[in-house]
Amino acid sequence: MAPIKQQASVVGENGTAVLAEVDVPKLGPGQILVKVVAAAQNPSDWKAAQSITAHGATIGLDYAGIVEEIGSDVPAGVRYLGEKVCGFVRGAAGAHGAFAEYLVASAQYATIPIPNGWSFEDAAQIGVAAFTTVQAMTESLTDLPTPLAPATTPTPLLVYGGSSSVGFYTIQWAKLAGLHVIATASKHNHDILKRYGADEVYDYRDPDVGAKIRAATQGRLRHAVDTISEAQSPRIVSEALSEEGGTVAQILRYDSPRPGVEVKFSLAYYFLGQDMVGKYVIKATPETRANSIKQGKLLSDILALGKIRPMPTLIFPKGLASVQEGFEFMKAGKVSGQKITYRIADTPGLKA
Ligand SMILES: NC(=O)c1ccc[n+]([C@@H]2O[C@H](COP(=O)([O-])OP(=O)(O)OC[C@H]3O[C@@H](n4cnc5c(N)ncnc54)[C@H](OP(=O)(O)O)[C@@H]3O)[C@@H](O)[C@H]2O)c1
Repeated sequence: MAPIKQQASVVGENGTAVLAEVDVPKLGPGQILVKVVAAAQNPSDWKAAQSITAHGATIGLDYAGIVEEIGSDVPAGVRYLGEKVCGFVRGAAGAHGAFAEYLVASAQYATIPIPNGWSFEDAAQIGVAAFTTVQAMTESLTDLPTPLAPATTPTPLLVYGGSSSVGFYTIQWAKLAGLHVIATASKHNHDILKRYGADEVYDYRDPDVGAKIRAATQGRLRHAVDTISEAQSPRIVSEALSEEGGTVAQILRYDSPRPGVEVKFSLAYYFLGQDMVGKYVIKATPETRANSIKQGKLLSDILALGKIRPMPTLIFPKGLASVQEGFEFMKAGKVSGQKITYRIADTPGLKA
């Protein structure tokens, strides 16, 4: 039985993260109560905490933990008590954030079993990043193979921002799908990205990087995933694409930088199967919910191949009490090829 109260990282003054005692969220129909073992940080965490409506809300999207209770209306066989699960919830928007001892998540949407062999600390990072890779590689770039049916000819794909969380998963997915993977990252991340499957890696700070990628691909590059989608990335990606243009999966919205370049925006929140108002307006429909289940299964099946590895974790030492430090680290641009991760049990003063 879950307790009534718990420790959680909630939004304090000016979007800061503070440790507080809050109620354990109530289980609703179609939901599960998860005892969170580890949680991972996304840029969305500190961005969502800045919202004027976020004050007091529990922070955190990505989690890994154990199913403790199952709500009504969860179809038989979907989840079981004691199951190890991971995924993401909507953080900083109420009581359901991941940076807590317990969270309530949908039983089916954006919740998947932890792959065999993955620790809770590693599985916590699967959530937003891996689901975003699924969206980019199947819904934005609709004509590419998947790891379940790899290509025999290596079509080139540019993963701009290869050392981001989304980048690590996209590189691995693309390599398994039989693509020729070109990535960009700072020089110190080139070797690791090659070990994760990138065939070529370029420094995005090189002023000629777009032209160099275009030359290396002999003007044949027609697909890109822009995991950064701001600053210089729209220009560089568009310069790298072929003369005729191509399609860019973007994860922050920007306009097409040149004729012939189609930009396609995706938002992981679509997989939550719930309506959203605010910066993004989402209307959940039977179709979007069915798609979420389908895409969650695709991701689970691909992870079950045992060929995708977690990206390196950066574990902050005091669990939920470290979140503000994690925010400052990320906002200062210090995250480079690592996933900030919190083990809930590391939080000082937690009852066992
Ligand atoms: N639409 C969605 O649903 C969705 C989902 C996930 C994320 N996002 C958004 O996508 C962005 C990335 O998220 P993430 O979690 O993958 O990020 P992350 O892991 O925190 O990204 C860190 C990496 O970004 C790279 N980077 C930072 N600034 C860069 C720049 N100007 N040009 C090129 N690379 C740069 C760094 O590369 P080096 O250290 O190698 O230089 C670093 O390794 C965020 O803005 C996030 O809010 C949107």
